[in-house]
Amino acid sequence: MQSTILIVDDEKNIRDGLAEAFALEGYATLTAQDGQEAQNILDDHYVDLVVTDLKMPKVSGMELLQFIKRRWQNIPVIIITAHGDISEAVAAMQYGALEFITKPLDLDHLLKLTKNALEIRELSIKNQELREEVLAQQRISSIIGKSPAMRKIFDLVRKVAPTKASVLITGESGVGKELIADAIHNLSPRRDKPLIKVHCAALAESLLESELFGHEKGAFTGAQTRKRGRFEMADTGSLFLDEIGEINQNVQIKILRVLQERKFERVGGESTLEVDVRFIAATNKDLKLEIEEGRFREDLYYRLNVVNIHVPPLRERREDIPLLAATFLHEFSQENAKEIEGFETRAKQALFAYDWPGNVRELRNCIESAVVMASGRFIVMEDLPPGPRSTQEKKEIHIPALSSLQEAEKILIAETLAMLGWNKTKTAEVLKIGRKTLYQKIDEYGIAQAAEQA
Ligand SMILES: Nc1ncnc2c1ncn2[C@@H]1O[C@H](COP(=O)(O)OP(=O)(O)OP(=O)(O)O)[C@@H](O)[C@H]1O
Ligand SMILES: [Mg+2]
Repeated sequence: MQSTILIVDDEKNIRDGLAEAFALEGYATLTAQDGQEAQNILDDHYVDLVVTDLKMPKVSGMELLQFIKRRWQNIPVIIITAHGDISEAVAAMQYGALEFITKPLDLDHLLKLTKNALEIRELSIKNQELREEVLAQQRISSIIGKSPAMRKIFDLVRKVAPTKASVLITGESGVGKELIADAIHNLSPRRDKPLIKVHCAALAESLLESELFGHEKGAFTGAQTRKRGRFEMADTGSLFLDEIGEINQNVQIKILRVLQERKFERVGGESTLEVDVRFIAATNKDLKLEIEEGRFREDLYYRLNVVNIHVPPLRERREDIPLLAATFLHEFSQENAKEIEGFETRAKQALFAYDWPGNVRELRNCIESAVVMASGRFIVMEDLPPGPRSTQEKKEIHIPALSSLQEAEKILIAETLAMLGWNKTKTAEVLKIGRKTLYQKIDEYGIAQAAEQA
């Protein structure tokens, strides 16, 4: 696509000269004789790059630059300045100008600058598009993942959601079973109907039965009115039976009947009710084992398990950790109004190496607390909770025998800095010295930060 350059200068011959030179290079050009006219043009046209003089009547080049950077961070602005105005040009750079060139203009230099800037701009736009495309592939509903295991789950969810097949979701605590149940319902034709959730483990046996099937007035002491159960509420929608492994045999039989015949009675009721419900169940138990040991009905298991979605623990799909961590970081940075750009290398390694017994839930909580703890632009090791931190923690610093006090001090400071991601405030705190002293010692000993990849 042809790029458009806006040229802003109050000298007509410069405007025309530049327009001609840019046109010869194949760019589309627009011209304005002052900042105000330029602002009007920018409001109405798509512009890829701006070349502007600084000294102009009405709205100056500096004001125009600020106007552009407020609205369109990514439009490169090249400043033209008279020889004597270098200090102003430097100020312009601080406001986000790409570069300044002095009059008389070196046209070749300007053209080269322009070409580079436009190439970078195009790349960054492409990058952004690519990033969005990749992100779209790495999520379904609000479930995020890029590991082969999660991709397989995305496929399964897409396939099973439009059907009425019962789904059994298995996996350890915190792997995202409920999120998957939500996604199945939200991608199904029943999405506008209710998704009713029953947390089976949380209810005592007698309560669970009336919770599920409802009860008639006077069915038992305390049943003062008739109550609709969750099955009735879920009619035409979906029912999510969470922790299905906790249900006793008596209730298992009744659920089996609803699955087979769609029929049930309220507790203490005579009349038979019929419902149309899509079943989704979840458990972190090994139901096969429960069957073997006589605690779970095999027939119910087969009815529920028409489609099985097994979610592996996070430690078996570590590729998902950086993606999840980055997503949660973004979410919690916004929530806490903090500008955190990412994770320092060692913190990233710690997140990756940790086994996450609480799976994604634990990772999410970890990132939330790290964001709260963080005092810099990057999450460092010290911001992480003890679990992940323990994977990386270097417990000792090695100082060779017969070192001088100064040599020992240099090693101690350098290692502590490295350990704390070069966070000088924290390093000074740990070493119990002032920040100023720390800076002096870094200087004195010539301690330098090892290049770490981001
Ligand atoms: N793939 C994922 N993408 C984004 N968030 C996730 C993912 N997996 C889990 N989570 C988040 O982790 C937390 C736990 O997920 P969820 O409640 O679905 O787990 P669960 O398997 O039902 O756990 P439990 O067995 O303890 O009930 C939630 O905050 C959820 O949003
Ligand atoms: Mg759950």
